[in-house]
Amino acid sequence: MDARSSRYHETYARWQRDPVAFWGEAAADIDWFEKPKAVFDAKAGIYGRWFTGGVCNTCFNAVDRHIDAGRGDQAAIIYDSPLAGAKRTITYHRLLTETQVLAGMLRDLGVQKGDRVILYMPMVPEAVIGMLACARIGAIHSVVFGGFAARELATRIDDAKPKVILSASCGLEPGRIVAYKPLLDEAIKLAVHKPDACLILQRPQAQAALIEGRDRDWAAMRDYALVHARSAYDCVPVEATDPLYILYTSGTTGRPKGVVRDNGGHMVALKWSMQYLYGVEPGEVYWAASDVGWVVGHSYIVYAPLLHGCTTILYEGKPVGTPDAGAFWRVIAEHGCAAMFTAPTAFRAIKKEDPQGKLLAQYDLKKFRTLFLAGERADPDTVQWAEKLLNVPVLDHWWQTETGWCIAGNPVGLGTLPVKYGSATVPMPGYDVRVVDEAGKGVAPGKTGSIVVKLPLPPGCLPTLWQADTRMRESYLDEFPGCYKTADAGFRDEEGYISVMGRTDDIINVAGHRLSTGGMEEVLAAHPDVAECAVLGIKDELKGEVPCGFIVLKSGVNRPPAEIEKECIALIREKIGPVASFRLAIAVARLPKTRSGKILRGTIKKIADGEEWQMPATIDDPAILDEIGSALKVKGVGS
Ligand code: COA
Ligand code: AMP
Repeated sequence: MDARSSRYHETYARWQRDPVAFWGEAAADIDWFEKPKAVFDAKAGIYGRWFTGGVCNTCFNAVDRHIDAGRGDQAAIIYDSPLAGAKRTITYHRLLTETQVLAGMLRDLGVQKGDRVILYMPMVPEAVIGMLACARIGAIHSVVFGGFAARELATRIDDAKPKVILSASCGLEPGRIVAYKPLLDEAIKLAVHKPDACLILQRPQAQAALIEGRDRDWAAMRDYALVHARSAYDCVPVEATDPLYILYTSGTTGRPKGVVRDNGGHMVALKWSMQYLYGVEPGEVYWAASDVGWVVGHSYIVYAPLLHGCTTILYEGKPVGTPDAGAFWRVIAEHGCAAMFTAPTAFRAIKKEDPQGKLLAQYDLKKFRTLFLAGERADPDTVQWAEKLLNVPVLDHWWQTETGWCIAGNPVGLGTLPVKYGSATVPMPGYDVRVVDEAGKGVAPGKTGSIVVKLPLPPGCLPTLWQADTRMRESYLDEFPGCYKTADAGFRDEEGYISVMGRTDDIINVAGHRLSTGGMEEVLAAHPDVAECAVLGIKDELKGEVPCGFIVLKSGVNRPPAEIEKECIALIREKIGPVASFRLAIAVARLPKTRSGKILRGTIKKIADGEEWQMPATIDDPAILDEIGSALKVKGVGS
């Protein structure tokens, strides 16, 4: 489409002229028990709060109201699991019943409004029902991704202090069953805070031993609750500003940040995005191939499609190997998806297995209109490959756990703008995006700088971190006064298109999963033979980036370095989890540093990525970089 025929510019300008009128209008798409007293209260919270005085319930808007509108028999969730060999369709009627029943069970376990509930669950419908049931009774859920190890779960238990934990006997990965229950037991052992109860879903693939007095069997409790259902399972009214959930994400240290999401602003923003950004109608099928443990899963597997009255797909499988690289085409064709959202890495995996896209010929994707990519920069090669194969627009968009929805994207519902490869396109209404230098001064178009968003952030974005207002200010607001620091670097061109090139901190993006290299360094440094270490992200053809750890052994350690490298790899898997994809540990004699002692990570990365690099003027001993280059070569990395 021609940029002039899109309504984007006029819509963005309308928001700029009067943000309160803009979001006030968007809020009319939500059912409120009591209308907000103010669309935005600049004096509330850290940078102001959205829809103060509004009383609502997210579960009511995602489920109950669709029944009143006649969608009861429509599929709300299609569960499709090639890993379990199972498929299940859950109508809005059934979703209401299941949510009410689970809400009652949570109440019986003592969960009250404002209490926290952790979910450590695989991609099964009960995970979605669990989130909605919490929302229904005003409890705050916190979903922890299943690929994290016990120690990571323990950290989150201690921060969120859940009354109850919902979990399952196992998750399923290709070729292996991941027993969740031992990880849960270990996490509770490690944590200082102990939950009152754990509700365990026994999956047919593995039965977990239950601990008496603490663990409850999900199915048995549900059967009882179904018979003894009470009216108390109605939606509990909450303030628009009350937290709906906490989602932990990597910070610069091993201690994750608890991103808080509110109820009112979140609903308004997500509902708006379904219509205007994704261009999807109520009743259509929408598929986000992610995991409920990530923000994409929260926003676009669960809340946004359901708030919009769509059918959402819950896919427990991979893009390749379950059973082949045609899996995505099968799901789109079989369920009639209108739009799909995934990470570029998934398409790189498909492209690698089936470069000609031959498997597509078996499927009819007639209802499929748009592919959305996010989670990492969409490399032009992958975008063009997917465009050619699928013959639909392939649109990159940029967002973060903190924002909960897209910062910059291509608004299909307003009229798709021309695609510029490598760019996430333009800021969404609500985001005043600026590219600045270190002093916070705007840089010229085309010049790379830090990307910041002028406060206030729009509805749906984090109002704060869980019980950590100071950390919120320090992490995001102090460095560029009046702005939110995205910690991403990039540039804006003359036409306002934004390209996001990478992080300004030590966060890396591995297969679209956000990880902290600082967190990995903390684990490696705890190895008894490691004196010093540095972890950095290096280029990977499939996953975008993978971590690579350099270790310097303590003097006097006589064991073979290869043995210690192996132990380091195992240690990261044990302490952080398989999701870290940490497979490269390299023992070196010393690390290259500046004269003031700072490790030259940027230069090491360039060497590992086979890029051109220059000797830093401040380097302490230039010979060390050659040693690093040689050590990388031995492992088959670098030029
Ligand atoms: N529970 C337990 N383990 C898990 C897990 C979970 N929920 N999810 C991943 N893992 C494990 C994997 O089995 C793998 O273990 P391994 O080291 O024994 O092989 C490890 O964590 C790394 O997982 P991942 O990075 O996903 O790599 P992969 O090789 O299994 O798959 C892709 C690579 C590209 C196919 C996959 O990452 C993918 O489909 N990504 C795109 C969609 C997506 O998840 N996006 C996220 C944000 S939008
Ligand atoms: P997460 O919080 O896990 O969603 O990760 C957010 C980070 O992923 C961002 O800060 C970016 O560094 C990166 N990211 C997400 N989407 C994109 C994109 N479309 N282009 C470039 N980087 C992206």
